[in-house]
Amino acid sequence: MKILVTGGAGFIGSHLVEKLSKEREVIVYDNFSSGKKEFLDGINCEIIKGSILDLEKLKEAAKDVEIIYHLAADPDVRKSYYEPIKNFEIDAKGTLNVLEAARINDVKKFVFSSSSVVYGIAEIPTPEEAPIKPISNYGAAKASSENYMMSYSNLYGINCLSLRYANIIGPKSTHGIIFDFYHKLLKNPNELEILGDGTQKKSYLHVKDCVDATVFTAEKLNKKYDVFNVGSEEQISVKGIAELIVNELGLSNVKFKFTGGKIGWPGDIPQMLLSIKKLKSLGWAPKYNIKEAIIDTLNYLRDKK
Ligand SMILES: NC(=O)c1ccc[n+]([C@@H]2O[C@H](COP(=O)([O-])OP(=O)(O)OC[C@H]3O[C@@H](n4cnc5c(N)ncnc54)[C@H](O)[C@@H]3O)[C@@H](O)[C@H]2O)c1
Repeated sequence: MKILVTGGAGFIGSHLVEKLSKEREVIVYDNFSSGKKEFLDGINCEIIKGSILDLEKLKEAAKDVEIIYHLAADPDVRKSYYEPIKNFEIDAKGTLNVLEAARINDVKKFVFSSSSVVYGIAEIPTPEEAPIKPISNYGAAKASSENYMMSYSNLYGINCLSLRYANIIGPKSTHGIIFDFYHKLLKNPNELEILGDGTQKKSYLHVKDCVDATVFTAEKLNKKYDVFNVGSEEQISVKGIAELIVNELGLSNVKFKFTGGKIGWPGDIPQMLLSIKKLKSLGWAPKYNIKEAIIDTLNYLRDKK
C-alpha cells in the first residue's frame, strides 16, 4: 500500500517525502504553485501534477493508498486577509476534497498539517485543549478542516490526525521571517524593515524535527481522531531574530525600521508558544534549538544565492 502526500513538492512536504520514501512507496500530489520540482530531485517518488480542487484527479491519485499526509495549502496568512474566498477554496474546501478522496478509496489514515493559528490569542504555552478561536481567515480555514476531519473520522472510520505546527523553518524555506529578513538585507544591508514593533515573540521548529514528529505521531495513531501540537519549548522575539541574522551575516550598523504596532499584519498573533507536553509524553523531543534552526535556514539561503 502506498502513501500519498499532497503538497509534497513544498518546503515541509518535500522533507516529509524524502523521509517517507526511504521505506515506502510515495506519491506526491502537487500543483506546483509554490512547490518546486527541484525539491524532489534524487528522491524516489511518483509525481502527479494536480490541484486539490480537482476531486476526480484526487480520487484517482488516492487509489491503493493507505495513508494520506495532507499538506497542500496556501499558507500565507497575510494573503488570506485580502483573498478570503480563494483561501477558503484551497485551505478548507481543498481539505474536504482530499478527505472525500480518502473516503471513496477506503484510506485508513489521514494526517493533516494544521497550525498554531487555530488558537488565535491564547494562554502561553498553549495546550491542545485551549479553545479554537482563529483570528485570521487562514486560521479559520485550518479550524474548519479540523472539524471536517472530526466528522469524517466519526462517520466513515478514517483515523484522522491533526498536527498543529508552530512556525517551521529550515532548508528549502520559501517564505517566512528568516527568508524575508535575509532577502531584505541582501537588497539593503544598511537598513531592515521590521513589521510591527519587534516585540512579537514566537516559537520556531526546525523542519527536520517537524517531519520527524509528523511521522512519529502518524505511526502511533490508534484513535479515530487525535490532535498534537508540534513545536519547540523556546520563543524568540522578532527583534531577536533580526539581531541574530545581522550578527551571523557579519553586518554592522544596520538600522532597524519598525513599522510599529503590536502585530505585523492583520491576523498576526503577537505571542505564540505551544505546549508540547502531550507529544513529549510519547517520548518525542525536538533535536534542534531555535538558534540552530535559524542559522541552518540562513546557511541554506546563503548557499543558494
Ligand atoms: N511553514 C510553516 O511555518 C507552517 C506552519 C503551520 C502549518 N503549516 C502548514 O504546513 C503545510 C505545508 O506548508 P509549507 O510551509 O511547506 O508551504 P509550501 O507553500 O512550501 O507548501 C504547500 C504546497 O502545496 C502546494 N499547493 C498549493 N495549493 C495547491 C493546490 N490547490 N493543489 C495542490 N497543491 C497545492 C504548493 O505547490 C506547495 O508545494 C501547509 O498546509 C501549511 O499550512 C506550515
